[in-house]
Amino acid sequence: MDKRSIKLSNGVETPMEGFGVFQVSDLKMCEQAVSDAIATGYRLIDTASSYKNETAVGAAIRKSGVPREDFFVTSKAFINEMGYEQTKAAFGRTLDNLGFDYLDLYLVHMPFGDYYGAWRAMEELYKEGRIRAIGVSNFQSDRIIDLCYTADIKPMVNQLELHPFYQREEELAILRKYGIVPQAWAPFAEGMNGMFTHPVLKSIAEEHGKTVAQVILRWNVQRGVSIIPKSVHRNRMEENLAIWDFELSAEDMRRIATLDLARPQMLDPRKPSEVHRLFNYLENPVLTSL
Ligand SMILES: NC(=O)c1ccc[n+]([C@@H]2O[C@H](COP(=O)([O-])OP(=O)(O)OC[C@H]3O[C@@H](n4cnc5c(N)ncnc54)[C@H](OP(=O)(O)O)[C@@H]3O)[C@@H](O)[C@H]2O)c1
Repeated sequence: MDKRSIKLSNGVETPMEGFGVFQVSDLKMCEQAVSDAIATGYRLIDTASSYKNETAVGAAIRKSGVPREDFFVTSKAFINEMGYEQTKAAFGRTLDNLGFDYLDLYLVHMPFGDYYGAWRAMEELYKEGRIRAIGVSNFQSDRIIDLCYTADIKPMVNQLELHPFYQREEELAILRKYGIVPQAWAPFAEGMNGMFTHPVLKSIAEEHGKTVAQVILRWNVQRGVSIIPKSVHRNRMEENLAIWDFELSAEDMRRIATLDLARPQMLDPRKPSEVHRLFNYLENPVLTSL
């Protein structure tokens, strides 16, 4: 898989690799990080209304001098923005924050609340040409299949927790069946569980003269998964983008397959305590962005 872009089911092309800005809530820092990412070569930028940094993302893009149509910008409607009317209003706020007149990809952030109403709103916005592609995030297979049966337009992307410790091969097969592009959030699991120092990943990296981060990203791309790593450091942005000059062997892929812990490491949308946490966050969003 050496293609640096992938076609969604509606023919729209998106880069395989993008840049995420979760937890970069300081707006100056976010604008600087996105400006650096653009200078490094990233053209897919992933934000969300809940990250509270859409204004910084839009500002960096508008100041970059790179034409708007060269970018592929994703944002997401959060659980307090679900429902037909709410999502329509949320989309307007997101466009205002970004300072754009269209969005490339709009996602239902979580499978909670009235996301069927939200989906109808997204379908309409898509048909009106205000969004180039629509999709979901954190939808497990049952939710995806149900939405595919009931929707007029099937989701084009599902953004999921996907990294060597949570590989989800069976779910990826179902997404492929429905023509949905999988996109990995937290491709490094934010470095948890010693991902950057794991002996198997380190030995594969050494064999290829690459870093562990590059091996992790390359592994996902080679199995057809789009990636949106985040870093506020320019050297890491460059490192994370330099994954197109080597290839993991079938044996490398097999060794990485053995690292699967087969359960979420970051967010389990099925866990009651997680659902409580997400809804409670809406009551008290002072601590962090989500
Ligand atoms: N849809 C969802 O529910 C959802 C959930 C979470 C995330 N996301 C999206 O996915 C994006 C990526 O996920 P994430 O930010 O949670 O985690 P991530 O990309 O797995 O990890 C980011 C962490 O890894 C570090 N890092 C980045 N490159 C590195 C490298 N080459 N070597 C060593 N450390 C490196 C970063 O540190 P520095 O910044 O200090 O370099 C940061 O602490 C987010 O930014 C967001 O856009 C979506």
